[in-house]
Amino acid sequence: MIITLDGPAGSGKSSTARALAKKLGAVYLDTGAMYRSVTLAAIESGVDAADAARLETISSAITIDFKDDPDGQRVIVNGRDRTLDIRTPKVEKQVSAVSAHKGVREKMVALQRKIAATHPKVVVEGRDTGSVVFPDAKHKFFLSADPQARAGRRAAQSAAQGIQSGDNLVREIMERDEKDSKRQVSPLVVPHGAVAIDNTNLSLDETIQKIIDLLA
Ligand code: DC
Repeated sequence: MIITLDGPAGSGKSSTARALAKKLGAVYLDTGAMYRSVTLAAIESGVDAADAARLETISSAITIDFKDDPDGQRVIVNGRDRTLDIRTPKVEKQVSAVSAHKGVREKMVALQRKIAATHPKVVVEGRDTGSVVFPDAKHKFFLSADPQARAGRRAAQSAAQGIQSGDNLVREIMERDEKDSKRQVSPLVVPHGAVAIDNTNLSLDETIQKIIDLLA
């Protein structure tokens, strides 16, 4: 069983997907973390976010592993725990540009399908998981919330990880939405057959419950 959860930054996808996976005994697959990992590797290798060929090489060679942890999932990139490093403002700034490359996406999508194929139950979260990666998934959801609410959640999430957010979080979130929605390859869309949930005024528990009710 594959459940897809797509939506813009700060829509609560990650918290919802993680909690949902736990409740259902499913594996949680954070596809955004994979694009962030490629972005981090590119920055550290001095590769420009516009350099399609070198980004593709990085995407082919990279290893990304997810490790369960009581405090949340750890992200292991090329053998090192980079859980916090993939959430820094530096990565945040470049990840849209890096993830817009067709070659990068092809590699990551292949990896996502491979990971999902080895588990009976998967909750997968991202921007194109219901539209491109798993278009035949039986259960698809699209989460959204207004930009102010999303910026507030992102700031709280970063603070909890000890990372200071920039001052222009609302603007940055809106710019990223625009880039993610207008790009040519796999733009952020409500996938065909997905249930759209606006959770501006819903708590995390209410959002999860709504999804569980819809799965029944
Ligand atoms: O969900 P997130 O903020 O961790 O995602 C980081 C970036 O990765 C986001 O700006 C767009 C990109 N992304 C993507 O293009 N496709 C996905 N399936 C997931 C994330």
